[in-house]
Amino acid sequence: MSKAVLALLVTSLMGPALAQSPAPASVVPANLAQLMRGTLYPASNVVFAAQDQNPADVPRAKDPNMATDLLASSYGKWDAVENSALAIAEVANLLMVPGRKCANGLDVPLTNPDWAKFVQELRDAGMTAYAAAKTRNQDKVIEATDVMTTACKNCHDKYRDRVKRADRAKQKCE
Ligand code: HEC
Repeated sequence: MSKAVLALLVTSLMGPALAQSPAPASVVPANLAQLMRGTLYPASNVVFAAQDQNPADVPRAKDPNMATDLLASSYGKWDAVENSALAIAEVANLLMVPGRKCANGLDVPLTNPDWAKFVQELRDAGMTAYAAAKTRNQDKVIEATDVMTTACKNCHDKYRDRVKRADRAKQKCE
């Protein structure tokens, strides 16, 4: 996404005042690790589950409205895969909102060009999974999970797993 498009997006989402400067903590209440745990982790698991079971075969929960397994919920089976894929594509936008911190207190490295590239890969992976889920073809979704795994991994290799490496001090997000 270009800076201009991003600025437009942020402006339309949050109002002109916020587009100029980092959003306050009330607008980005989660640090990056919390955002991953609360959104990408559960949403991608719904997509990845298709590697083991056809989503159409997941039985409804006893009380689908209270189900914590989205595949067994009122919006379950293939719809859950579609909606989770779209959620992943939407979270890509949240990964570009200024003002978010990493768990270590440092800024999310938004201004690094490869950050935007990794975010775009995630957005594309979400849309690939969405298109696959719409076909209701399990093999297509399994292919899309490869794209998804790669998108998560490429960014993690550079930005999450730094903590394990000696040069972590140079990194913004470890
Ligand atoms: C654009 C970069 C990027 C992409 C894409 C990305 N992540 Fe992350 N992820 C990170 C970074 C950086 C951290 C470390 C965050 C921190 O320490 O605050 C992280 C941390 C995590 C964590 C661990 C949180 C913890 O407990 O410390 C999970 C789980 C996670 N990501 C899941 C995913 C999944 C699943 C995907 C793909 C669907 C994904 N991420 C895609 C950058 C990314």
